[in-house]
Amino acid sequence: MSKIIIVGSGVFGLSSALHLVKAGYKDITIFDRLDLFNLNYSFENGADTASADINKVFRALYPGEPHYHRLALQARESFLKWDAEVRSCTPEEARAKFNIEGDLKIIEECGVANYTDERPELYTVSIGDFEKSGLRDTQYFLDNPEDILRAKSNGIFPKLNFFAHKSDLHGLYDASSGLLYANNACLYVCSFLKNHGVKFVTGSPEGCIESFIENDEGSVKGVITKDGKSHFSDLTIVASGPWTPSLVPQLGGLCEAQNGNVIVIKIPEERKDLIEKYSPKNFPLLMWKMEKELEGNLLSGIGIFPSTSKGLVKLILRQKKYNNPVKLQDGSLLSIPITSNSSPPEHRLSKFVVDQFKQFIRIFLPDLVQFGISQSKLLWYTDAINNDFIIDFAPEKKNLMVVTGGSGHGFKFLPVLGQFVVDVLENRENEYTKIFKWRDYRNFKDINHILSVKTGESSYYGQDLADESDLLPYCKI
Ligand SMILES: Cc1cc2nc3c(=O)[nH]c(=O)nc-3n(C[C@H](O)[C@H](O)[C@H](O)COP(=O)(O)OP(=O)(O)OC[C@H]3O[C@@H](n4cnc5c(N)ncnc54)[C@H](O)[C@@H]3O)c2cc1C
Ligand SMILES: *[C@@H]1O[C@H](CO)[C@@H](O)[C@H](O)[C@H]1NC(C)=O
Ligand SMILES: *[C@@H]1O[C@H](CO)[C@@H](O)[C@H](O)[C@H]1NC(C)=O
Repeated sequence: MSKIIIVGSGVFGLSSALHLVKAGYKDITIFDRLDLFNLNYSFENGADTASADINKVFRALYPGEPHYHRLALQARESFLKWDAEVRSCTPEEARAKFNIEGDLKIIEECGVANYTDERPELYTVSIGDFEKSGLRDTQYFLDNPEDILRAKSNGIFPKLNFFAHKSDLHGLYDASSGLLYANNACLYVCSFLKNHGVKFVTGSPEGCIESFIENDEGSVKGVITKDGKSHFSDLTIVASGPWTPSLVPQLGGLCEAQNGNVIVIKIPEERKDLIEKYSPKNFPLLMWKMEKELEGNLLSGIGIFPSTSKGLVKLILRQKKYNNPVKLQDGSLLSIPITSNSSPPEHRLSKFVVDQFKQFIRIFLPDLVQFGISQSKLLWYTDAINNDFIIDFAPEKKNLMVVTGGSGHGFKFLPVLGQFVVDVLENRENEYTKIFKWRDYRNFKDINHILSVKTGESSYYGQDLADESDLLPYCKI
C-alpha cells in the first residue's frame, strides 16, 4: 500500500493517520475543506465541525457495552500521557510545539455528575465494568447514603451536591470521567502527524473533495478536488464526519447527519469568582436527565461543561434530532449538514431549544443569567443506525474505506480508533472490527431515528427557528 489519501482532519481522520503512521505507512495525505490547524480547531475562528470544539465529555461509563468501557480506558491512558506532556510546557513551548494556547491541558478528570429522575438499572450494570477495571471506588450513587458518606470523607461531596436545592436527586457521580479539551487534543495529534511527514492539503477549493477517480470495475484510484485537480492514491479513506454519506451515498440509512445544539456563555474575565466557582476544580461536568434525551421532554438531555480559564461555559441540549434531507443527482435522499460555512450561513437553533436553554439557566445557573448567551452553534452528528462506528471498505468498491458513524460518542476514542483502520487494512479481525463492519441498516432498530431522513418528518427547516430577538451573539437570557 504505497499512497494513502484521507478525507477529513476531524477525530476519525486524525486517528486513522496516527495509527497508520505508527504501523509504518509513509505516504499519507490528509485533505480537508478547512485548514483546521490554523483555525486552532476553534469555532470562534470559523470551524463548523464536531471535532473542533472547546470541550467534550470523556466517559468510560458504557452500561451493557463493556467493550466500549475497555476501549475508553485504553484511550484515557493516551490522553493522560499527552496531557502530562502539554501541562509540562511553558505557554511559548505549547504554542510552538502544538499550536495550543490558553488552557495547556488535554484531559481534566473533573468527574461527571449524571442526574436522573430515578436510578436507572443501567448504572447497576456498569458498576460491574468498573469493578473489573479496578475503578469501583470512582462510582457514587447519589441516592446511596454510604456513597454520600464516602464522598463527604474524601472531599468531593460539594461536586456531587451542586444541585442540592433540587430535592430527591438520583443518578451517578463518576469520578473517572471528565472533560477533554477537544481542540487541544486535535492540535496535539495534528502536530504529531506533521512532524511525522503526513501532508495536509486544506481549504477550499484545493482541499475539498468533490468526487473519486474510479474505473468501470468500481476501483477507486484517488480523489478529485473542487479546483478540478486529480490526486491519485492506492487507498482512499473517507473520514468526513456528517459529510461522509454525501461522498459515499451507499451509507444512506446506515449513517446520517443530524443536528446538535450548543450554546456558550462567556463569564467576563474580571469575574474571577464565578470563573473559579464553575471551574473544573469546583464544578463537575453535569448531565441533566440524559436518559430522556430522545423523548423531547422539557428540560431534559442538557449537559453543562465547567468553565475554561477564559470563562467559557458550554451547554449542550440533546433531545429529538433534526436532519436536512437533500436529493442527490443519483436519486439518493441524504441528510447534508448546513453550517456557518454554508451559503447562506446557518447557525440558528430552534426556538424550542433556545427557550429551554434560557429556562434551564434561570433555574439552575442563576448567577450566569446576567451574561447572556454569547454564541450558539449548530453542529452535526454522524448518527449511525445503532451508534456503533463504521470502519470498513465500501461494498462493491475497491480501495475505498469509510471511518465514520458513532452518533455523539466518538471524540473520546481519538487516540485508539485508528488501530482498527490498520486492522481492517491488514485483514486482522477482532471483536471491534466485527462490530464496526459495514452492515445492512434494515437489520437494526433505528435508535437515532435516522430513517426520518427518508420521510422528511424531522426536517431542520420544518422547525420553528429562533428569530431575530433570539439571535446571537449576546442574546438575553
Ligand atoms: C454536539 C455534539 C456533541 C458531542 N459530544 C461528544 C462528547 O461529549 N464526547 C464524545 O466522545 N463525542 C462527542 N461527540 C461526537 C464526536 O464529536 C464525533 O464523533 C467526532 O468529532 C466525529 O469526528 P469526525 O472526524 O468523524 O467528523 P468531523 O469532526 O465532522 O470531521 C470531518 C472532517 O471532514 C471534513 N470534510 C467534510 N467534507 C469534506 C470534503 N468534501 N472534502 C474535504 N474535507 C471534508 C470536514 O471539514 C471535517 O473537518 C459529539 C458530537 C456532536 C455533534
Ligand atoms: C490560533 O493559532 C495561530 C497560529 O499559531 C495563532 O497565531 C493565533 O493566536 C491562534 N488564535 C486563537 C484565537 O487561539
Ligand atoms: C449519563 O447516564 C445516561 C443514562 O442515564 C447514559 O446514557 C449517559 O451515557 C451518561 N453520561 C455520562 C457522561 O456518564
